[in-house]
Amino acid sequence: MIVVFGSVNIDLISKVERFPHPGETITGADHVVAAGGKGANQALAARRMGAEVAFVGAAGTDNFADLALAHLHADGVHLDHVATADGVTGTAFITVDANGENQIVLSPGANAQVKAAALDEIVTAAGDSLLVQGEVSMGETEKALAWAKGRGMTGIFNLAPARPVSTKLLSLVDILIVNEEELRQVAERSGLHGGASDVVEKLASDLGLGVVVTLGAQGALAHVDGQMARCPGFPVDPVDTTGAGDAFVGAFAAALDAGLRLEIAIRQGCAAGALACLKQGAQPSLPRRDDVEALLEERRQV
Ligand code: RIB
Repeated sequence: MIVVFGSVNIDLISKVERFPHPGETITGADHVVAAGGKGANQALAARRMGAEVAFVGAAGTDNFADLALAHLHADGVHLDHVATADGVTGTAFITVDANGENQIVLSPGANAQVKAAALDEIVTAAGDSLLVQGEVSMGETEKALAWAKGRGMTGIFNLAPARPVSTKLLSLVDILIVNEEELRQVAERSGLHGGASDVVEKLASDLGLGVVVTLGAQGALAHVDGQMARCPGFPVDPVDTTGAGDAFVGAFAAALDAGLRLEIAIRQGCAAGALACLKQGAQPSLPRRDDVEALLEERRQV
């Protein structure tokens, strides 16, 4: 089982030709309202790949709460430990430009009240993992990782969005997942320089953990337990890249949970990430296992 401790949001998404400059007003397309949040997206992505998943987070007392949890509920993610917090559900204001790139402003709402104590009643088994991100309190995230370590679980930390984290927190992580920009920031803070693969290797050995970096259209590379793996990207014509990173992380975690090799896990992650770029919105675009397997099969035949 994968326990995901993190955020759930409502995403308000508008397509624009280009992003506005400071002080400028531009007109976008009619906005779309969709479920999102990095924690919830990754929980759903892992579930759609076939993993058993429990999500621990908080939604507000507003009208958005049910909508925010609707896909998780429909796909069978365990939601018994989702709290209702006074106030609004987390909301992300997202613009997507003509190239499918996004800009996001996050209003945390109920996510600010997510507590690690909610994990205490969850029954776990050897081999289970905890998956966390950077959209809820880092103090509570550190407690969640300590909870997982105490139970012998694998702690996977997707440091997104990038933010400073304590050495104590990193010492509780088994696998760190970052994108290129997040890797750059972590490397800078650790005084590391060089190309992505050198930095990943040095970071893994300096911090004593596994490091996975997603490289957008260029795929991903990983250094876990002294083993290096690389996966080239799957070329797609992106409609909206929102949630692509979450699709990678969820599919990668699901593959490790199923006992698959590192190389296969990053291939599944890259395929899921590419497919998630083909539809608007984060959760509506997250692929299912059949779609991911079909893309991997197509790639094998090229
Ligand atoms: O990673 C994409 C997610 O980031 C969106 O769903 C949005 O809610 C923000 O959290």
